[in-house]
Amino acid sequence: MDIPKLQIGTLTAEVPIVQGGMGVKVSLASLAAAVANEGGIGTIASVGIGDIRTTREDYDGISSEAIAEEIRKAQSATSGPIAVNVMSVLSNAETLIRTCVREGIKMIVVGAGLPLKLPAMVEDTSVNLVPIVSSGRAATLILRTWEKRYGRTAQAVILEGPLAGGHLGFSEEELAHAEDFALERLLPEVLEALKPFEDAFGVKIPVIAAGGIYTGQDIARMLSLGASGVQMATRFVCTRECGVSDAFKQAYLDASEDDIVIIKSPVGIPGRAVRNRFLERLDRGEPIPINCPYKCLSTCKIYDSRYCIAHALLNAYDGDMENGLVFAGQNVSRVHEILTVKELMNRLLDELRAA
Ligand SMILES: Cc1cc2nc3c(=O)[nH]c(=O)nc-3n(C[C@H](O)[C@H](O)[C@H](O)COP(=O)(O)O)c2cc1C
Repeated sequence: MDIPKLQIGTLTAEVPIVQGGMGVKVSLASLAAAVANEGGIGTIASVGIGDIRTTREDYDGISSEAIAEEIRKAQSATSGPIAVNVMSVLSNAETLIRTCVREGIKMIVVGAGLPLKLPAMVEDTSVNLVPIVSSGRAATLILRTWEKRYGRTAQAVILEGPLAGGHLGFSEEELAHAEDFALERLLPEVLEALKPFEDAFGVKIPVIAAGGIYTGQDIARMLSLGASGVQMATRFVCTRECGVSDAFKQAYLDASEDDIVIIKSPVGIPGRAVRNRFLERLDRGEPIPINCPYKCLSTCKIYDSRYCIAHALLNAYDGDMENGLVFAGQNVSRVHEILTVKELMNRLLDELRAA
């Protein structure tokens, strides 16, 4: 089988694999550039990228400087495609997006909420806009709004199913019946929802399937169902190029199926994580000190929360598992080794060819 390229507006990836954005420093330049050098699309995550531990007068400015620096690092390490992931619930989303465009990023991926105003933040139409959705309804709502208000459409849509890591676009009740929302079920619905916009704009809007994609066979299945590519995140954590602490990677290597839990995030939506000492402390009702010098997420009700999620994720990045939250996808229990990005990509592509 010839491996199909992934075309997203003005951007071409030689292989149809996108490394998903992983917030609070899990996916930065070194990982994203390594993926782009292997023909995929590497994604730098912007959430929690600045120094979020100390009180800062200029949180916006510091975060923007940090994302600009990561973009420059990635661009000097690869000429392949690099995207930036921004959560729409970030209080500084617009500043980050404008910085990315200024730094020459050609693909902005926005999840965690409906990015209804995204085109207004990106005047340059050579920048490809890619919303993350979890249903055909959400895709229709976003694209109808973009068409009416801005006369624009998306250059691709990422469909994230219920097996993904991190914050999820499903309620706890829906996650209890995850099979009802399997990618195999959602994909036809999203492909159908995009048709009127493809017709109206005379373009193809590729769908990238995400959540629980683990092998080349999984990729082949998604392509056969009409996806143009896949987004994978969990598998990229246990690579040499991912900059998280060894303890973070070890939590992935040690995780069994029973260790994978759905948490109620302070952001107000469910998230998938690996059970660890921090989650046990929360289960025991131990008080966790909270200090929020700025409001990094517009939806966060910090003083009704048990902990600050940005700090907890940063602690895990640093390896402090007493105070750290480890986000991961449902397939984390299948991760048993640390590879280079090249080894992982070669393995996936061999499996995809064989499938
Ligand atoms: C550690 C971790 C952090 C994540 N952070 C983000 C994020 O900041 N923004 C986002 O849109 N998705 C985030 N995700 C979701 C991934 O980008 C991806 O879509 C999803 O995890 C794919 O499923 P997989 O992990 O089974 O491959 C995160 C996932 C993980 C595992």
